[in-house]
Parts: sequence; C-alpha cells; structure tokens
Amino acid sequence: MESHLPLTEPKEAEIARVDAVAVIDFGSQYSLLIARRVRELKVYCEVFSPDVPWEQVAELSPRGLIFSGGPGNVYDAGAIMPSSSIYDKNLPILGICYGMQAIVYQQGGKVRQTERQEYGPSILHQRSKSPLFWNLPPSFEVWMSHGDQVVDLPPGFEILGSTENCPMAAIGEDRRIFGIQFHPEVSHTPRGKEILQNFLYRICGCEGNWTVSSIISQSMREIKQKVGEGNVICATSGGVDSTVTATLVHKAVGEQLKCIFVNNGLLRREESERELAAFKKIGIDVTYAGATQRFLNRLKGVTDPELKRKVIGEEFIRVFEEEATEIGRVDFLAQGTLYPDVIESAVGSAQRIKSHHNVGGLPEKMGLKLIEPLRFLFKDEVREIGLALGLPPEAVWRQPFPGPGLAIRIIGEVTPEKLEILRMADWVVMNEIKKAKLYHEIWQCFAVLTDVRSVGVVGDARTYGYLVALRAVESKDAMTADWVRLPYDLLSRISARIVNEVPGVSRVVYDISPKPPATIEWE
Ligand code: XMP
Repeated sequence: MESHLPLTEPKEAEIARVDAVAVIDFGSQYSLLIARRVRELKVYCEVFSPDVPWEQVAELSPRGLIFSGGPGNVYDAGAIMPSSSIYDKNLPILGICYGMQAIVYQQGGKVRQTERQEYGPSILHQRSKSPLFWNLPPSFEVWMSHGDQVVDLPPGFEILGSTENCPMAAIGEDRRIFGIQFHPEVSHTPRGKEILQNFLYRICGCEGNWTVSSIISQSMREIKQKVGEGNVICATSGGVDSTVTATLVHKAVGEQLKCIFVNNGLLRREESERELAAFKKIGIDVTYAGATQRFLNRLKGVTDPELKRKVIGEEFIRVFEEEATEIGRVDFLAQGTLYPDVIESAVGSAQRIKSHHNVGGLPEKMGLKLIEPLRFLFKDEVREIGLALGLPPEAVWRQPFPGPGLAIRIIGEVTPEKLEILRMADWVVMNEIKKAKLYHEIWQCFAVLTDVRSVGVVGDARTYGYLVALRAVESKDAMTADWVRLPYDLLSRISARIVNEVPGVSRVVYDISPKPPATIEWE
C-alpha cells in the first residue's frame, strides 16, 4: 500500500551530528527532569549511571557534563563518586546539589553537614559575574533541598552566589567547572531554565540543533542502516508510541515493515475498527488477528493482577508469533519503548510494581533483533514527532491505553459480561469527557469495574449492582500523577448516565488518589 507521507531523504545538514550533553545520575529523583529540561532547550542529552565506562559516554561526543543531585553524603564510606579521570576530559561540568558536592570533595574542598539545612525556596544573591548567570538579576529565587553544604572551596574555585543559609550556593572555576547547590531543573526555580541554557549555550557552546526534523532524519537513517534488506514486524496497538514507531519504520524501509494488530478481546467499544481505519488512513498495511476467545479462555478463573498480565502477555506472544510466521522471514521487531522505560530498566528499579512489558521475551524467543526508534524520547517528544510525520491529531493525542486492556480495569475475574459492563461505562466516560472538551487536557480517564456490589433503589425496587470507579489523572509521563479536579456537574452527569444506562451498575465513585502512593491503573 502506498503511503501518503512523503518519503523524503534527509538533507546533509540534518545528518550532521547534533550537540549533546551527558547527565551523570547520582540517584536524584530529578535526573530525568534535568534531561527533559536540556532537551527542551534543543540539546540532545542522555542519562548515565556513574559506573558506566567513559567510552560509553564518549560515544555521545558530549559537549558538557551535568552531575545530578542524589541522596548520598560525599563523606560516607562507599559514597558514589564520578570517576576522577572525568576531570581530565576538559569538558565543562555543571554539578547540581550532590553533584556539586562531589566535585568539591574530589577537587580538594570540604563538604559538611551543617545545622542550617535548607528545603524550599530561597534567594540567591550573585557575588561575582559568571556566564552561568548571564542576563539574570543580581538576586533571584531558587529551590534548595539539602542537608550538607560546601564549606571550603577547592583551589581555583570562587563563590558565584550565596543564599542566607548557604554562603557557597554557587561556585565556579575558570569558566569550566560549576557547582550549584540549588535545583535549576524544577519549576520552583523560576529562572532555572535560563541557567541551564547559559550552561549549554554559553559554556558548552551548544547550538540547540536537536529539533524534531533532526530527530526524524537521524532516526530514519539509523533504521535504514540497521535493517538493510531485512524484514521488520511491529505490533500496532493504535497507541501513540506504536503508531509513531510504525510510521517512522515505514518511512524508512517501506514495505519491509509488516504490522500486526492483535485483538485480544480486551479493547474498548469499537476500538479495533477505529484503529484499523486509522492505520488505513496513514497508509500502513496491517494484518488483523482476532483472538478474543483465546484470551478469554486463558483468563478464566484468573484474579491475581500480575497473573492476568502474565497470561495476557504469554497469549499475545503466541498469537503474534503465529501471525509473524505466516508473514515469512522476519529479522527485526520494532517496539515503541520510551526513554523512561529504558532508564527504569537500566537503573534496575529495586522493586517490580507492575509488569508493563507486553511483548517481553518475544525477541529472544523468535530470534529477532530490536528496533526501538523512540528509546531516547519522552512521550511529549514522541507526540511532536507524530505531528511532524503528519499523523492525524486524534492518533497523536490519544490517551494511553494499557496492553492488557480492560482486563486490568476489571477487579477479579474477567468475564464477557463484566467486559460488556465496563465497555458501556467507559463509553459514557469518554463521551462526556470529550463533550466537555477535556479529553486532550487529561492524561488518562477511564472507568474501573470493581468487585464490590452495593445496594441501590430503582423505582421502588431494590437493586444490588456493581460499583464503578471513575479515574481521571493528569501527568507528564505517567511516573507521577494527580487526580483531575473535574467539575462537579460533569462528575454528576457521568455518574447519572452510568447508573442509568449501564445495567448491573448501582453506584459510581471518583478515585482521588495521586500516584504515588496509588498507581494510575487499579491493577
Ligand atoms: P500505572 O498503573 O503503573 O500506569 O501507574 C502507568 C502508565 O502505564 C500504563 N500501563 C500499561 N501500559 N502495558 C502497557 O502498555 C501495561 O501492562 C500497563 N500497565 C499500565 C497505564 O495505563 C499508565 O498510562
């Protein structure tokens, strides 16, 4: 099938390598946020663990390094430190909070726990002129969060700024190494972005050439190179990540890409029809695999959330493998893995909260190599790329939908009857949220069918129906989330429609739990 998207060759200028910096992550909750901010300033950036060999960082050809904050104390035995040879690379370095303290410690200064701890807003007064604070007022607001602080400067360093409780809150050495005790990456430091921009542009000499078109052309070039004459398969779910992945790969290698859409019977009302139509519009040929009964058979009697995910994941792999075998020789699997997933698995987050990887194990089983064109991107960047690739806005702005589908929104056993109830309730939610023009404002909104039943009354008769929970959250990347303050009259309309229109439901509640401690999905 012919694509309506232009299959243009990238221009030479776009092929030129973009400026990049490396963030060395000392365990701060803000490391990913630093990466985001840098990328918002159109400088490519990757996050590395401090124990990664320098050669790996060097592959990026970084123009500078940012040391993140972290929970440790530099004077503790076993404190995580940058490799001391990192200072021989002659690259500009910006140390933030713990990152600054690590620099000071390694360069011969002193860090101490002081009584004057600082958490929250503070005013930084500039003490000496620095390119780091170019174009900033003599005093500005910053966000502090530290117990330790620098008490003795290493040789060659000078104080650039102080707060009331932290005399050495910003330091610098010869326009090359800088340390700041505050966090420029958080929005509570209103001029923080300018400080990062000064570091990137004025100190590292970056030009801000990491743009959507450079991402697209670089990614297409890499896909072409990697795939060569091979064949690629991609599981398309209709979600923005898999749609952008498929579109990029399709633009790069055309008909060498085959897409498979597995209908697991756990989708929302009319979803498979909608998705297939969307792919047709984009011009990507998709093989449809209807497998509802297989999934429902496997889910009989399964109530444990992780077991549900496991069963669905395994069955998905089986169906997908069967369909892929029909296609013939396949060499690659294209996946829409995003940067937060990569970081999460690289850092090896201590505890598994939920298994999110729907095709985990598939590449090994089928002997496929992976193509993951989005593995260094955040969701909002993926959306921008989707728009630049010409995808319809409704595909780009679609709310995320989990691979295990409605199964993890039905508490307890999944049955065809419960699926039907949830589909009807979900339809009402979507319908009302869209009518209220809130669909794009909200990260995700959906209904959950709980296992709880409660007594109701219709006319003069007693009812004993299910409890449906309504969930609507706002988020940037699903790592944290808060419940949306939906207008009362909208909540009231949704509730009234669900209890009136969905047989078997007698009560609706609104979930007001943020993530953490709750998660977005209920299972
Ligand atoms: P939680 O519930 O962990 O969800 O806060 C975070 C985001 O991930 C989605 N999600 C999944 N996506 N397969 C997916 O593709 C899954 O198994 C899965 N579980 C949760 C969820 O909808 C939210 O956007």
